[in-house]
Amino acid sequence: MHFSLPFRFTPTLVVAMAVALAAAVSSQSQQPWSLELEARALLASGWWSAYTNHIPSRCEWLGITCDTAGSITEISLPPGFQLGDDGNFGKFNFSCFPNIVRLRLRASGLKGSIPSEIGTLSKLKHLDLSYNQITGFIPSSLWNLKNLVTLQLSANRLTGPIPATIGRLTSLKSLSLGWNQINGSIPFEIGQLTNLEGLAFSANNLTGSIPPSLSHLVKLKALNLSMNKISGVIPHELSQLTQLQYLVLSSNQISGNIIPEIGSLFNLFVLDLSTNSLIGSIPTDLGNCSKLQLLLLSRNFLTGSIPARIGYLSALTSIDLSHNSLRGKVPSELGSLRNSLEYLDLSHNKLTGTIPPSFNLLHRVRQLNLSYNSLKGHIPTDLQLLFPPDAFVGGNNDLCGDPIGLPSCSLTRSSSKNLDLVKILVPGILLAFLILGTYEPRNLSGGKETEKPCVIHFAMVSNP
Ligand SMILES: *[C@@H]1O[C@H](CO)[C@@H](O)[C@H](O)[C@H]1NC(C)=O
Ligand SMILES: *[C@@H]1O[C@H](CO)[C@@H](O)[C@H](O)[C@H]1NC(C)=O
Ligand SMILES: *[C@@H]1O[C@H](CO)[C@@H](O)[C@H](O)[C@H]1NC(C)=O
Ligand SMILES: *[C@@H]1O[C@H](CO)[C@@H](O)[C@H](O)[C@H]1NC(C)=O
Ligand SMILES: *[C@@H]1O[C@H](CO)[C@@H](O)[C@H](O)[C@H]1NC(C)=O
Ligand SMILES: *[C@@H]1O[C@H](CO)[C@@H](O)[C@H](O)[C@H]1NC(C)=O
Ligand SMILES: *[C@@H]1O[C@H](CO)[C@@H](O)[C@H](O)[C@H]1NC(C)=O
Repeated sequence: MHFSLPFRFTPTLVVAMAVALAAAVSSQSQQPWSLELEARALLASGWWSAYTNHIPSRCEWLGITCDTAGSITEISLPPGFQLGDDGNFGKFNFSCFPNIVRLRLRASGLKGSIPSEIGTLSKLKHLDLSYNQITGFIPSSLWNLKNLVTLQLSANRLTGPIPATIGRLTSLKSLSLGWNQINGSIPFEIGQLTNLEGLAFSANNLTGSIPPSLSHLVKLKALNLSMNKISGVIPHELSQLTQLQYLVLSSNQISGNIIPEIGSLFNLFVLDLSTNSLIGSIPTDLGNCSKLQLLLLSRNFLTGSIPARIGYLSALTSIDLSHNSLRGKVPSELGSLRNSLEYLDLSHNKLTGTIPPSFNLLHRVRQLNLSYNSLKGHIPTDLQLLFPPDAFVGGNNDLCGDPIGLPSCSLTRSSSKNLDLVKILVPGILLAFLILGTYEPRNLSGGKETEKPCVIHFAMVSNP
């Protein structure tokens, strides 16, 4: 068939036609039949059935936002709004809502698995389906939604692995898949999500090690991989994440050392590496993390001594180093944290020496635990008054104090431990007698090392 145009083809005309055609195509989804389709699909979902069925006013339904043409761009239900029709995904036809930019159905009682049609929402930027009872795999089509900025699927019953195709979602700023049953290892391709600021995979069944490619996520502020079965070491490359404020790797099977490069994460607020299999000592460079508020390293196999520099991290509110094998003295510098520290647990270690008198200054501390160490001597007076005996006793056989429940520092106790004490106190008394000239000196050598704090304290209490 011969087809002649009634006008001359000019390049300008071609451009004009292309523009007109493009406009026609883009407005197609906003033509009445399409809105009609949207309306029918919305009604068919049954999600609002307990609330309203009045379709003409659908743009005013709870949680729904439309564009000027009347097409739905946003469904953002207030958390706790229970979707009607049993909240099943089944009746919601995703392919009828091509203009949706935001879909927020948090804690809405959603059930069933995510339909693969969700992949047709090509304009979707924000997807939040957290706190529902969603089961099954995350459909592979979801990893094609390249415009996604936030993806929140936490607290569901999602299973299966995180596929390598996650690396396509390069616009993502926030990704949360926590509290599901996702297994397999974290794919190397995670390193392609270079716009990520928040990443939470906590409370899943993830195995394998932390991919060093994570270090490409230079905008990352929060990383939470806690409560998985992640093994291997902390990659040195993590030190490149200098924006990191929140680093939580607790309750995994991570081994090796705490990398000294952690000291270059100078924006850290929270460092939680507790309940892992970390060895070696606490790096002194941790003292560079001057914004640190929470330092949680309990339940590892850490050795060495507590770096005194921790005492200069003046923002620290919580320190938990319990259940390790830390040795040496309790640094008196910790007493410098008197304006910030609220929680201090050093229990179940191998600490020796006395409790530094500077601890008397720690008046903000609400919870203190020094039990199950090898501490000795007199418990600073203020601490005795502020904390129950079980904050000290247990393991620390040579600690003493005055309140009921603490081994007494006074002479009346006749345990073998206190015999040593008596031997030290006696010279003082003898000296007094000597001066008065009423007593003959006796051979008193053989006394063990002095328990000075207790002597001082004894003098204090015995003074009228
Ligand atoms: C969803 O809507 C599309 C477009 O109208 C249609 O082709 C498809 O059959 C619908 N799917 C279901 C499950 O109703
Ligand atoms: C994790 O996997 C183990 C088997 O490897 C399974 O027994 C356990 O139930 C899983 N946990 C979760 C939370 O899915
Ligand atoms: C993940 O869990 C499923 C069962 O839910 C299991 O079949 C699969 O082998 C697991 N994958 C890995 C890598 O552990
Ligand atoms: C990170 O993990 C902890 C468990 O230590 C959890 O309580 C917390 O809610 C998680 N944070 C985020 C942002 O997912
Ligand atoms: C910690 O600070 C000191 C002194 O500024 C510096 O020499 C050292 O390199 C820093 N450590 C790290 C791991 O950044
Ligand atoms: C200190 O820790 C021990 C052992 O974990 C525990 O029995 C005790 O109740 C704790 N005391 C306080 C005051 O927290
Ligand atoms: C004191 O007794 C010790 C043994 O306990 C002995 O070695 C020492 O020679 C005695 N000193 C004097 C001055 O008697």
